[in-house]
Amino acid sequence: MRRPIIAGNWKMNMTASEAAAFLEQLKPLVKDANCDVAVCVPAIDIPACAEVLKESNIGLGAQNVHFAEKGAFTGEISVGMLKEFGVKYVIIGHSERRQYFGETDESVNKRLHAALNGGLIPIVCVGESLEERETGKTEEVLFRQLKEGLKGVEDVTKLIIAYEPIWAIGTGKTATAEQANETIGFIRKSLGELFCPHCAQEVRIQYGGSMNAGNCKELLSQPEIDGGLIGGASLKTPDFATIVNS
Ligand code: 13P
Repeated sequence: MRRPIIAGNWKMNMTASEAAAFLEQLKPLVKDANCDVAVCVPAIDIPACAEVLKESNIGLGAQNVHFAEKGAFTGEISVGMLKEFGVKYVIIGHSERRQYFGETDESVNKRLHAALNGGLIPIVCVGESLEERETGKTEEVLFRQLKEGLKGVEDVTKLIIAYEPIWAIGTGKTATAEQANETIGFIRKSLGELFCPHCAQEVRIQYGGSMNAGNCKELLSQPEIDGGLIGGASLKTPDFATIVNS
C-alpha cells in the first residue's frame, strides 16, 4: 500500500516569523493525520520552521536544491545546508522553476541525483502546458520529462512524483478527478516501462494544481492519486488541515 502524502508548497510566501506562527497553529490540527504531511517552505524560513516542527508529524521540505556539494553558485543552496536543519523533502523541477528560472530536464536530473545521494526525499514535478494538452502532446511531454529527468535513478521508489498540469496551477482550474487519475495512471505505466512495473506500483504520485478544501476529497479518492502538492490552499491553516484530514 502506498501511504499518501500531502505537502504544502508555500512558494515565495511567509517570512520566518509568520511561518513559525503559522506552523504553531497547524500542528495540533494535523497531529492525527493518517498520511504523511509536509511543508516546503522558503529556504530562509527553514531554521525557524525546523525549531517549531521538532517532534511533530509534519516533515520539513525545501523548494529547490543545487547539485553541487559546495562552490561558486551564487544564490544556491546545497543538500548539506538543508540536512543540517533536518530537512527531509525537496521539490525539484517545479514548473515555475522551469518556466521562470531556466530549469531543464537535465538540471532536474542533476539536482535529483544530488538529493537522492544526500538522503533527501525528492518531490519531482512534471506536467504539461495548456497548449501541449490541447494539441494532444500530454503523454509525449510527460514521458520525456520522466525519461530525461529520472535518468540513472537506481531506486525509483525513493522518490515522489508530483503531476502538476501547468494550466491548473494557481488558476482555480483543477483537472477533473478522472483526468488527474488517468494521467497519473499514464505516469505510473511510464515508470513501469522506464524502470520496472513492480517498482512503479510503489512510487507515490501526487496531484497538484488548484487542489483545495472543497475538491480534495474527490481527487484524493482516486486509486492512482497518492496525495497532493498544494500551493494556495496550503497558506491557510484550516484549508490545509481539511485537505490533510480528508
Ligand atoms: P496551487 O495549489 O496554488 O494551484 O499551486 C499548485 C502548485 O504549484 C504546488 O506546487
